[in-house]
Amino acid sequence: MSEAPVDLVGALSARRARSKTTEAAPSRDELLRLLAAAANVADHSGYEPWRVIELRSAAREGLGLAIAEGFGLNGDKAASTARKPLRAPLLLALVVSRRPSLKVPAWEQEATAAGVAHNLGLLLDAEGWNVLWRTGLATRTDAVRRFHGLAEGEDLLGWLYVGGRPVSDREDKPRKPRRVEERLSAL
Ligand SMILES: Cc1cc2nc3c(=O)[nH]c(=O)nc-3n(C[C@H](O)[C@H](O)[C@H](O)COP(=O)(O)O)c2cc1C
Repeated sequence: MSEAPVDLVGALSARRARSKTTEAAPSRDELLRLLAAAANVADHSGYEPWRVIELRSAAREGLGLAIAEGFGLNGDKAASTARKPLRAPLLLALVVSRRPSLKVPAWEQEATAAGVAHNLGLLLDAEGWNVLWRTGLATRTDAVRRFHGLAEGEDLLGWLYVGGRPVSDREDKPRKPRRVEERLSAL
């Protein structure tokens, strides 16, 4: 076994999602560099059943309106819901793009798309950004689907809310140790 070039165990152990971000965000070029690595996932038959949509600036406002419309909201409730995508400067919409296949069922294609999303989130975190994956019933409404231009066979897996890590004098609470012994069995 060759020596690992980077401390993957350390990066994964340190990853954490914080709800608050600053207004800094990675550039498109930075995203492309990380996405090229994140895309290196197990992918049955190499369908590449995923895509990512960048939402910055006014696009986030458009999403907010689409979410409110999808829920049929009006007035104050619509206005407060429409502000939710403004919680981070960059939202990355995660799309699974399934193709009909007897060999590779939908769930396998979803596993690949989710894998890319987890990898991308981890890489962004490891490079010092803050990432929080959010989803909700809004992802499946017609208005939100239309807003993202989803085609048949496509669904939203949610959005990575990406921004700068807040500078805080409060340390992150230590994580509870994961009880992985209970989750690893042997036959
Ligand atoms: C598919 C998916 C959807 C999620 N949706 C939400 C969400 O809508 N709102 C939320 O607060 N957290 C959501 N989470 C959880 C957060 O991304 C995050 O994991 C959680 O805040 C715990 O933080 P941690 O990842 O640092 O343990 C989602 C996670 C996944 C994988």
